[in-house]
Amino acid sequence: MLSTPSISLVLWSLAPGPDPDGEQLRLLPLLDPGERARWDRFRDGRDRWSYAAAHALCRLSLSASPAAVGPRAAPEDWRFLEGPHGKPEVDTARSKAQARPFSISHTRGLSACARLDAPPAPGLAVGVDVEGRNRPLEAQGLADRFFHPLEARWLSSLPEEAVLGAFMGLWTLKEAVVKALGTGIQQGLETFHVATTPPRLVEADAPFGERGHWRLEQWNQGENHALALALRAPDPGIVRVVHRTFVGVDSLLAEGEPL
Ligand SMILES: CC(C)(COP(=O)(O)OP(=O)(O)OC[C@H]1O[C@@H](n2cnc3c(N)ncnc32)[C@H](O)[C@@H]1OP(=O)(O)O)[C@@H](O)C(=O)NCCC(=O)NCCS
Repeated sequence: MLSTPSISLVLWSLAPGPDPDGEQLRLLPLLDPGERARWDRFRDGRDRWSYAAAHALCRLSLSASPAAVGPRAAPEDWRFLEGPHGKPEVDTARSKAQARPFSISHTRGLSACARLDAPPAPGLAVGVDVEGRNRPLEAQGLADRFFHPLEARWLSSLPEEAVLGAFMGLWTLKEAVVKALGTGIQQGLETFHVATTPPRLVEADAPFGERGHWRLEQWNQGENHALALALRAPDPGIVRVVHRTFVGVDSLLAEGEPL
């Protein structure tokens, strides 16, 4: 009997080490001139670090994917295209390599990249989102305005001290979903319903396809960050999720990844 081969989804997150400025100098040579120009436009050093880290992490992750998926490029040689709503994808011609679906996210103090160890295929996609957990937000007001009505109603039923954490859980899941979908928040966040315990897509319309093709995961990353992953695949249950957290570029290097 033929069995469907399992594929891996590799999620790497990176937090700054004790010398973030020195780390940036090591990461920058991996970026292309366009990325370096965008990096240079961030005013706050924490934003510069997380931008450089996310883009370098993505390049290192793509280069560390199995050769069996197809030819790989060196980290600095990957080239990217933007989809119609800004979703980045590998430019196979200019990279001289096989594309792999991926997603990146960056916020102060944490960057992440998720990649699938498979060539791009219809209905196969990944989205990742990281956010600071302790931001002063009008959580209920934002949910009432932007989220699905049942999500807003659920938040309003919680004790006050639980609302911000629950909101961040919903928000990161919803952002991960629209990043996997490729639309970003142009797909209104009110048009689909997610739940956090356990993470899942409860209800969604046409552009999302079959609900059973979605798998959502989420983690708290240290005390300060929430991280969410959305996978869309014909059989998401067979995908093996491998999640590694690195603190500082040295810890990434210690794993023997190229840099
Ligand atoms: C894509 C989107 C979801 C970005 O999310 P974000 O949380 O602001 O930023 P993240 O760091 O998580 O992700 C940014 C990365 O997503 C990727 N991205 C951009 N557009 C994308 C799209 N349409 N689909 C998938 N990925 C996309 C890019 O790699 C981008 O990195 P870059 O800007 O360094 O090149 C976007 O639609 C957006 O504008 N979000 C705004 C969030 C917001 O205001 N939410 C309010 C909720 S109450």
